[in-house]
Amino acid sequence: MNTLKAVRGTRDLLPPETELWNRIEATARSVFGRYNFGEIRTPIFEDTQLFARGVGEETDIVSKEMYTWEDRARAQSEKAQSLTLRPENTAGAVRAYIEHQLGESGMLQKLYYIGPQFRRERPQKGRYRQFYQIGAEVIGPPSAGSESPLRDAELLEMLAGLLDELGITGWKLLINSVGSSTDRPRYIAALKEALKDLAPTMCVDCQRRAETNPLRVLDCKVPEDQPKIESLPRIADYLDEASQAHFAAVRAALDACGVEYEISHRLVRGLDYYTRTTFEFQHGGLGAQNALLGGGRYDGLSEMIGGPKAPGIGFAIGADRLVLTLEAQAGQVVPTLADAYIAPLGDARNPDALVLARELRRAGLRIDVGDGSFRIKKSFETGNKLARNIVLLGEDEVQSGMLTVKNFASGEQTKIAREQLASALTAPHE
Ligand code: HAM
Repeated sequence: MNTLKAVRGTRDLLPPETELWNRIEATARSVFGRYNFGEIRTPIFEDTQLFARGVGEETDIVSKEMYTWEDRARAQSEKAQSLTLRPENTAGAVRAYIEHQLGESGMLQKLYYIGPQFRRERPQKGRYRQFYQIGAEVIGPPSAGSESPLRDAELLEMLAGLLDELGITGWKLLINSVGSSTDRPRYIAALKEALKDLAPTMCVDCQRRAETNPLRVLDCKVPEDQPKIESLPRIADYLDEASQAHFAAVRAALDACGVEYEISHRLVRGLDYYTRTTFEFQHGGLGAQNALLGGGRYDGLSEMIGGPKAPGIGFAIGADRLVLTLEAQAGQVVPTLADAYIAPLGDARNPDALVLARELRRAGLRIDVGDGSFRIKKSFETGNKLARNIVLLGEDEVQSGMLTVKNFASGEQTKIAREQLASALTAPHE
């Protein structure tokens, strides 16, 4: 029989790497808390229409990367519903905002999420079919200040702080403005016009994109096409006064708090809902998939999916890519050692070992327990791999209440009274 394996593009996350995942998630939660965000958890699958209308039919995500299936109809007369594993979380968050009338409070909604997303992309380093995002969205009625450039700058300042706090070095922030819903059609018309002559000389993907989604031409990575793309009209020249002022205000606030950035006029991003500010944090260590995170403003998304006017801005971090970056920086993740490994001497001591372990665990220590059938040599070898100390538990120790403890690092062996054991085993730096 064939051995079953995880499906292509999916993978198991195992200890000790999962410790790094947990540390990243805990740091993100802590930072989001300090910026007064609350957590939202939306379903893993949604009605396909949500992504078709929200993310956009012409995007790569919707046109070729979604895991979509027909649900079973409940009754014969009913049409089967088309469902999709979420490829991203912004559309789901905005759907929830509309469904629960969160805008009625008149307040900004500041929501963060951590969870798996699914895209049927070609797997490679840093690109998976099930991947994990840590994201946040700020949405609300215009009266709550949701359109303010302060929101954009605050989010970017928070992200720079989060990456610093995680210890990621060498990141680069790229920003752009893709204009309002009135600027963009003017720009796209100009782009189409310029591409009429140019596109036939470009790569096949660009030829297709010039027809279906001309903005995507700016994303092309083919070296020969680069000078041609540089000669195309730039979005900055098509922003109206209000959009220009908005972008200038975002930059001024970033300058004020010393967040460094580069303006990239080609940063259009792969989802259709963006308006005005778009951004990406990149990291050179990631190779081809160099975007650590991406996001932007989506002032029209709520209306696109049938909701009230609710401008918003948000981002999603590729958690898999954060892990890759931190691993490359710090080397292999070392497993956390237990405070002690309890070695019962003989099968009869197994219940005593469990009692002692319970005492120590309830005192907050990380404890592993061996087995009375192990020879003493095996207990020491196993203990040395798992813990900083080994506690020997024979009949003498149980009777006398004095336990034999060996510290692996110093090689020192001592007798410690049971009541003092928990504090003696606690690492001095903890
Ligand atoms: P996105 O650029 O499609 O934006 O994805 C955000 C991040 O998710 C990327 O920068 C990357 O780090 C990670 N990512 C995307 N696809 C994969 C993959 N196949 N494997 C591993 N990592 C991946 C969004 O998803 C928007 N919803 C972000 C947003 C929130 N915009 C506004 N609010």
